[in-house]
Amino acid sequence: MPRNYVRKADRKLRLMQSGETYFLPRHPTENDRLNLLAFATGMAMGAGWLSPVTGPGPVLDVGCGTGLWAYGFGRRFPAADVLGVDIVDFRDDGAPPNFRFQEVNVLQGLPFPNDTFELVHQRLMAAVYPTERYGQAVAELVRVTSPGGHVELFESRPFIEPEGPATKELWDFFRKLGREKGLDTAAMIPERLESYLAAAGLEGIETREFDIPVGEWGAELGEWQRRAGELILRSHLSLLTRMCPVFAALGVTEDRCRELIETMADEVNEVRSVHRFKTTFGRKPSKSV
Ligand SMILES: C[S@@+](CC[C@H](N)C(=O)[O-])C[C@H]1O[C@@H](n2cnc3c(N)ncnc32)[C@H](O)[C@@H]1O
Repeated sequence: MPRNYVRKADRKLRLMQSGETYFLPRHPTENDRLNLLAFATGMAMGAGWLSPVTGPGPVLDVGCGTGLWAYGFGRRFPAADVLGVDIVDFRDDGAPPNFRFQEVNVLQGLPFPNDTFELVHQRLMAAVYPTERYGQAVAELVRVTSPGGHVELFESRPFIEPEGPATKELWDFFRKLGREKGLDTAAMIPERLESYLAAAGLEGIETREFDIPVGEWGAELGEWQRRAGELILRSHLSLLTRMCPVFAALGVTEDRCRELIETMADEVNEVRSVHRFKTTFGRKPSKSV
């Protein structure tokens, strides 16, 4: 169990006070789920980041979660000074010496001066910001980026495609909860990543999209797809299992929820579901924006 889970009650209180929108699980298995997702996307992307960094100074990872991305960056660039921020500290052990953590509620802005970091990275945070605030959040990332530095965003479409009947039923629960909180349930955020960066004044914007097969059927496509497909399915099943108690508020019994999850595990192979991810980065002009 991650060492930081001992302060769970404190954290729950702070989360309640933060007025946040995020409703995904806070559970020890969430570390495994996020790491499985990171391994799968890393395999598909073939890299942890696309920005042309060559050994920068200060780096910020916004919503650092288990710390996997930030730790990897810190190990790759021992001279970099890597700061991970999140509303809760549920990092895994194994931080490199050039990593620091700071507790920050990103919905209240970033408590850093303008032009501080050479690279600002934000991954899978669309479930944190209401859709209408995502652009403003990107502008905040750009504000703390130093001129000539990069901002890199990584998001996924908030569903897998195609959806078989069980998958659709499960994701409809997510969509209902997400809509109530003003979150993106229609993939608007990933579609707009370039325009958010452009609106915040970045230049040299580049994007890469990649599909990961969900399930064992990925083996038909090749070795990395086999491995990534299994990992990403496990990550989705873990998330859904933890969501069953939350879906109960929508009148879904625990038994029904588990039955749907079991069906989905087969269904993704029959309909050949994929999960689409997108990473987009841009450079802050040398003259401050
Ligand atoms: C889907 S996870 C992504 C974590 C990590 N970036 C990754 O790719 O594995 C979303 C993260 O946002 C954090 N989070 C949720 N609400 C937040 C808030 N208001 N301020 C800062 N972090 C928040 C969660 O604790 C979680 O670590």
